[in-house]
Amino acid sequence: MKNCKLSWILVAVLAIVVAALGYKFTVGNVQPSDDGRQAVMLSKDERNTLLLEMRVWLQSSQGILAAASEKDFDAVIKSAQASGMQAEADTPGSLFRKIPVEMKALGFDTRRKFDDIAVEAAKSKDSSLVVKKLSMAMNNCIACHEMYRFVEETK
Ligand code: HEC
Repeated sequence: MKNCKLSWILVAVLAIVVAALGYKFTVGNVQPSDDGRQAVMLSKDERNTLLLEMRVWLQSSQGILAAASEKDFDAVIKSAQASGMQAEADTPGSLFRKIPVEMKALGFDTRRKFDDIAVEAAKSKDSSLVVKKLSMAMNNCIACHEMYRFVEETK
């Protein structure tokens, strides 16, 4: 009976340890920001890499709209793929530890949505469906910008 109680205590302690380790990994390198968002603390190079990625996403979004308005679906596909999952290979591994897990999820989902736009353009050749999917993808831009900033770490 006593042993049983002891093992439950052990289970509880282990659960807390595992939860704490998991939390540290998923929470990323963040600090509260005075504008109410979370500041993701990065090196200069990491921040520049991500901001460049962002500018590519903006370029892709405009490229998709311009091409869809002219029903040029090859150009839609090209613009969408420039921001799809394949481009993720350019992202340095060190960022993985610093970016909070919800932010990573939103980022990957955005890339998947760009890939989805390319698939839609190839399949339906329907510019209104392409624009609709882009609009849905851009809800991710809004959601993430509302929550996070990229701030350079000072040493
Ligand atoms: C997973 C989070 C996330 C998503 C999704 C996201 N962004 Fe960003 N973006 C950021 C953060 C964080 C910043 C830096 C904002 C800051 O520090 O104030 C940023 C900055 C930018 C910038 C400024 C770049 C610069 O050079 O300063 C642009 C442009 C931009 N994002 C475009 C987009 C577009 C377009 C989308 C959607 C297609 C998008 N972003 C989706 C997180 C995200």
